[in-house]
Order: sequence, then C-alpha cells, then structure tokens
Amino acid sequence: MADSDYLRSVRAQYEDFPYPPRDPADERNRLIPTHIDLLAKINHFCYAGGRDFRKNFRALVAGAGTGDSVIYLAEQLRSTNAHIVYLDISQASMAVAQERAKIRKLSNIEWENASILDLPKLGIAPFDYINCCGVLHHLANPDAGLKALEAVLAPGGAMGLMVYGTHGRVGVYQMQELLRRLNGDEPDMRVRIAEARALLEQAPPTNWFKRSESKHDDHIAFGDAGLYDLLLHSQDRAYTVDECYEFVEQAGMRLSSFAYLPYLYKPETFLYNPALIERLAQRTRREREAIAELLSGKLARHFFFAAREGNTNASLSDASLIPFFRSREAGDTIRADIAADGASFDISTPEAVFSSQATPLKRILFELIDGRRTIGEVRTELVTRLRSKNALPAPVDVARELAEILDLLVQGDLLFLRTRGSFIPEM
Ligand SMILES: C[S@@+](CC[C@H](N)C(=O)[O-])C[C@H]1O[C@@H](n2cnc3c(N)ncnc32)[C@H](O)[C@@H]1O
Repeated sequence: MADSDYLRSVRAQYEDFPYPPRDPADERNRLIPTHIDLLAKINHFCYAGGRDFRKNFRALVAGAGTGDSVIYLAEQLRSTNAHIVYLDISQASMAVAQERAKIRKLSNIEWENASILDLPKLGIAPFDYINCCGVLHHLANPDAGLKALEAVLAPGGAMGLMVYGTHGRVGVYQMQELLRRLNGDEPDMRVRIAEARALLEQAPPTNWFKRSESKHDDHIAFGDAGLYDLLLHSQDRAYTVDECYEFVEQAGMRLSSFAYLPYLYKPETFLYNPALIERLAQRTRREREAIAELLSGKLARHFFFAAREGNTNASLSDASLIPFFRSREAGDTIRADIAADGASFDISTPEAVFSSQATPLKRILFELIDGRRTIGEVRTELVTRLRSKNALPAPVDVARELAEILDLLVQGDLLFLRTRGSFIPEM
C-alpha cells in the first residue's frame, strides 16, 4: 500500500478509532442488518430480481471498517460457495472485523489490508457486487476511488454505495468549521475531542448543529470514535442528489435506484396538495428526487445502487415476477393489522408509518402474496375471489390499486420481486 494511495490523517484516525466501534463479543447475541445489503433487496435492485446466489457469487466490501456489511453478507451467504472480500486501510478496524467473523465461524471472507486505489492491481477481481458505504467521501479524490471500484466490477455487476448528503448535514458542516477554527491545528486527537465535547455542551440551542443534533447522534451513540468521525474528520465532503448522479456517471455507470427507503426521494411523500403533486409528476425522476431532497431537508446520507447497465431494477409491471415480503414477520404484521381494524391499517417503516384504507382487495391481496405466486397469478386470483364476493371493482381500478400498494411496499423496503429462476438463501 503506497502512501499516495490513501490519506495519512484518515488512516491515522481509523487506526485509533475504528468505525463504527463494535465489541466482537456481541456477535454471540445479535446480527446487525445493514441498510442495503439484504440479498433480497440487492437481487431486486441490482439484478432485476434474477440472481441465483448459489452460483459463484463474488462480493467486495471496500472500506469495510469494523465489518457490519461484510458480516451481514457473509452470514446470508454462509450456505453457498460465495466469496466475500473485506478491504480497508485500517489494520485496527480489520482486526475487529476478523474477530467478529471468527466468533461467528464464518470462513467465506478474504481479508485485504489495502487501499481502494490499489484494487485494480491486487489481482482479486472481478466482483458481482461491491459495497462501499461511507468511504469515498473521505478520499482525496472520490472520483478516482469510484473509478478504481468500477475497474474491478464484473460484467452485469452492481454497486451499493453511500455518500453523505449535503442538505441533510448543514448543521454538521457548520460545527465542523467551528471546531476547525477552535482547535484545527491541535495535533493531539484526544485534546480536540475533549474541547469539542466542552464546546458542544455550551453551544446555544439556536446553533444549527444543536438544532439537528437528534438526527446526528454519532458523538453520543458511538462515543469518541463517533464524535471524531462526525465532527473532526480531516477529509469529508457531501453530495446532492444531482451530484450523486454525476459522481456515478463520471465512473462510467448509471444510478439505478436510491437504496434505503426510496419513498424518501419522492416529493409526494411530503406533499398532499393535488395541484402541486400533479405539477411535479411531469418532471424527470432525477429532478423529482432532487426536489424531494430539498423538501425533506433530512437526507444526511444517500444510499444508492449503481451499475454500468443503467436500470437494473425489477419492474412491478412485469407480471412474471414473484412478490415476497422481506421477512415472514413483515407480512404477518400487515396481515394482522388489516384483519384487526375494519377501516384502515398501518404500513410501518423505519422513517414513517403509512396509514392505508382497508379495502376488500387489500385484505385478499396480502393473503395472496406468499412468495410463490407471480404478480400475474396474484392478479388473476384476486379478481376470482373478489368476484365470488360480489366485490369486484372495475378492472382498471384493480390494476391501479394493486400497483399502488405493491409500489408503496417496495418503496418502504418491505417487499421485493424475484424471478422464478432466482435463488436467495434463507438464513
Ligand atoms: C466511516 S468508516 C465506514 C466503515 C464501513 N463501510 C461501514 O459503513 O460501517 C470509513 C472506512 O473507510 C476506510 N478507508 C478510508 N480510506 C480508504 C481507502 N483509500 N481505501 C480503503 N479503505 C479506506 C477507513 O479506514 C474506514 O474504516
């Protein structure tokens, strides 16, 4: 690893403060699911629902830190012949991740203490899936970093990326500037941390970071490592929605979908005035996403999938695809809720709860989504059952209501689509 392949201050930070801080012993009690690495979701958004994960799947986690994504992927792929590569410049972070894998008895991970910029010359390519979350915005040249990842992506492969969001981190960048002015020239990281804590205690509630502190709580949840990562980082830049698209395109790829709760990137999630919704419906997807970002103001991190091929998403208008809930529990919760309440039911996601009208169609629909029937079969059976109850809406209404509810579930990360030929290992 040549010195020029990474920033010395960045490596020094993550040697002293591996991120996120994890106690390997906790692996005995829980598995941390990451936002974008659920195989069912990767399959839906990166391979149009058609991947067979039993067949020589190769994944890279670049800048893998203390190992959340690598452990989650390796656990899901445990029963297959998949190969997963961990890569990071920080030895201390890698040691934590290795200990976690050891406790879990995971033997499907290869360990590389190297820089992303070294990847093309390591001789370990190609990869079907590359996860790189929270890393590229810490490189001196993020564009070069993404190109180095693209160079090791297999044909038909895809990436799950996360970079900071500009508008959602306004308060963070003001606090970073304030702390740079306070003690940016202080060489001792611990002194900088102590003084930052003292200042945070005294900052008035009108301070922009204080106003949004509940949304940025790394300095509380993750102690000193979290504080340094959030507020004292030596190299940190952020992206708007438009810049995410440009970032991916300069590396020869296309942004296929925002990856964590895609409804957050839809203006109509936040608006209820039909005239405004109608006006915005005319815009391109990218423009609508940029508007949603400005409207919500809270997108501090952009998770997205990218591929050379452009749109790699499974389509709700493909009747041959099979819809399935992300977990048995997710489906059971909705079924129980709709059964319990005559008029409405809730669709709960980590960021919002959507209340939906409990129509006869929806009642039957959730019974029919069993992970075996295709969308076409669900639709046919739906019509048959509604007709037998004399409750059949006009065909166009059936199609619309079905499309709307399936779309909402996909947008909320609750439901995905797959082809009959795909295979996703059960955990
Ligand atoms: C904020 S942490 C994110 C860790 C992990 N991806 C996660 O989401 O939990 C950033 C990681 O990127 C690593 N890193 C920074 N520059 C790198 C580079 N040029 N090549 C490889 N890893 C790098 C750091 O060592 C650190 O572990």
